[in-house]
Amino acid sequence: MPGAAWFRMPVVYTPAMTQGRPRGFFLTFEGLDGSGKSTQIRRLAAALETRGHAVTVTRQPGGTRVGDRIRALLLDSRTEGLDPMTELGLMFSDRAQGIAEVIRPALEAGRIVLCDRYTDSTEAYQGGGRGLGSEIVLRMHENLCGGLDPDLTILLLAGFERSLTRARRRNGRAASAGQDENRFEAEDAAFYRRVYDKYREIAAREPDRVEVIEGDKSIAFIHQEIVKLVEARLARSREPGQGAER
Ligand code: ADP
Ligand code: TYD
Repeated sequence: MPGAAWFRMPVVYTPAMTQGRPRGFFLTFEGLDGSGKSTQIRRLAAALETRGHAVTVTRQPGGTRVGDRIRALLLDSRTEGLDPMTELGLMFSDRAQGIAEVIRPALEAGRIVLCDRYTDSTEAYQGGGRGLGSEIVLRMHENLCGGLDPDLTILLLAGFERSLTRARRRNGRAASAGQDENRFEAEDAAFYRRVYDKYREIAAREPDRVEVIEGDKSIAFIHQEIVKLVEARLARSREPGQGAER
């Protein structure tokens, strides 16, 4: 294309990349299926709202209209032959939409965003579970997520067997209600062991961001632990020079 100017143009960054760090507080929840993430998110959202915070709750995959369609494709056990790279691409497609439509606007408005799963899930499940490795996931995160890292990640690592039993029981109930989200739960224990190990690796690599809640404690006990953690982080983020809520 002689004379075409487009390839000489400077790189155009997406708004997400140029807007800098938004003002709100971005908190993600991670763990194996059935580790209690959605239970704790519901409770934490209520506790934060009672304390006067503006809270947005979302999840991945899903959380937007486009994301819900991607979620159905990813999780429906009738989806056959999905290549691990396709799966990886769909996870990040969903994430890019969630960031653009829900997460970034909420953070820009100074809200606290509670997100059920984020890039750590992709690193653990596709990087670890599917064996694609961390590097490709971290590169895609860098390129597609506009540098949006969580302020805090709560990693719920209940016992391995117990998590799977809970998830299967819950999905059994969902299936009888007409929802089919079993594709990942059909994986074997070795898959989940790789996911679990990768989560541990992430926590060891990023101890400042990732807080691990270990063991099989009660829902109420874990909730109190999380509230304490989040309050401390929110207070810290409001200190001069820290920038969040912010
Ligand atoms: P996730 O969102 O991580 O898949 P859920 O919050 O849906 O997990 O929890 C899965 C199941 O385990 C639910 O039936 C929930 O009531 C139960 N559960 C969650 N946390 C605990 C806990 N600490 N102890 C016992 N049961 C729990
Ligand atoms: P979800 O229903 O939120 O998990 P849970 O069963 O813990 O409530 O998530 C659906 C599945 O998608 C779960 O098995 C983990 C998987 N997943 C990935 O493999 N990669 C990802 O990037 C994300 C966000 C989820």
